[in-house]
Amino acid sequence: MSDPRDEYGFDPNYTGEDDAPDDRRALEGDEAPAASGPGDGAAALPAADDRGASRAPGVKAFDAARTAEHAAMLANRVRKRHAHLSRRFARESIDCFRLYDRDIPEVRAVVDWYAGHLVVAEYVRRQHGPGYLQALADAVAIALGVPADRVHLRRRATGQGEGPRYAPLADTGHRFEVRERDLKFLVNLDDRLDTGLFPDHRDTRARVRSVASATDFLNLYAYTGAFTCAAAAGGARSTVTVDRSSTYVDWAKDNLVLNGLWGPQHRMVRADAEDFLDRARLEGRQWDLVFVDPPSFSNRKGVDVGFDINRDHPDLLRRVLAVTAPGGTVLFSTNHQRFTPRFEGLAVGSIEEITAQTVPEDYRNRQVHRCWLILHRK
Ligand SMILES: C[S@@+](CC[C@H](N)C(=O)[O-])C[C@H]1O[C@@H](n2cnc3c(N)ncnc32)[C@H](O)[C@@H]1O
Repeated sequence: MSDPRDEYGFDPNYTGEDDAPDDRRALEGDEAPAASGPGDGAAALPAADDRGASRAPGVKAFDAARTAEHAAMLANRVRKRHAHLSRRFARESIDCFRLYDRDIPEVRAVVDWYAGHLVVAEYVRRQHGPGYLQALADAVAIALGVPADRVHLRRRATGQGEGPRYAPLADTGHRFEVRERDLKFLVNLDDRLDTGLFPDHRDTRARVRSVASATDFLNLYAYTGAFTCAAAAGGARSTVTVDRSSTYVDWAKDNLVLNGLWGPQHRMVRADAEDFLDRARLEGRQWDLVFVDPPSFSNRKGVDVGFDINRDHPDLLRRVLAVTAPGGTVLFSTNHQRFTPRFEGLAVGSIEEITAQTVPEDYRNRQVHRCWLILHRK
């Protein structure tokens, strides 16, 4: 049988479907309780663990020679990948892209490039020991000539009970600008597991932009408003940006200001998305274009049972459609790695999965997110 690996040695059939947790959106608002649940296993462990000497009893140190071997394999892979992608993306003024996506099965790391900074994440294995992630990161940094103060570590734990979930990593407040084609976004690589920008959605943003002209656009679970910027740049008549975190609503406004797009046609709403939808429906409000990208799990104030995307997406989409204009468009996305769509019975004109078009070429996990284009009935 021929080896399916491509010129970089990546397996093009790799979908990332192993025991890894959801890859991203390990988010919480500043007012929000931690969102977690079965299968949503990303956790931020204190940075000190990376160099700490202690180890769980009975866990053997990952052998130094094997650590060095993994680090060398990763560095070699990332060097080749960077040479290719940095040229490719520089032509389009794209500063943020994925350099490594667990391509070598035994090196369970993800490496992202953010305008000369590296975010190196390890899917922690107990046998790896405390110095493993640092060794990987050092090797990648040396291979690409990135100084140590531009290397940002993330440990993502698989399974339950391995550490505080979604806890802030730091409180530097340090944000800097990155480019995505002719848009700019503020990112913070130190304080949270997520950075303020999800580069895996850059082509989804381009798609929203391409259809936004003269529309009223609604961005639900908007995070830092990158999609609002895309719609505004595409000529949306108005936008509404909804997130329950005031930190992210403010950040979304900062992103609009940064791009010279801020104006009275843009509204920032700090609210629970479902409460917002219920109110908007009662007020008879409608939007032509809606982007809805909920977290996999989310708690709601005053409600015992939190949001679970697998269970609750049909109900959420019904509420979204109730505020979508006849003939309007909904883009629905999730990064839940075990998402099972249940769209039967939704009163829509059509539903088409467009994931293959929205996941960019730098993501080896071809389902880092999944995305559907829903056209409402006319
Ligand atoms: C998956 S991220 C959205 C990513 C965003 N669409 C993007 O691509 O940049 C989840 C966001 O949902 C927000 N969120 C979580 N639960 C919420 C809720 N019940 N209502 C409104 N926002 C919520 C979080 O604060 C976070 O900003």
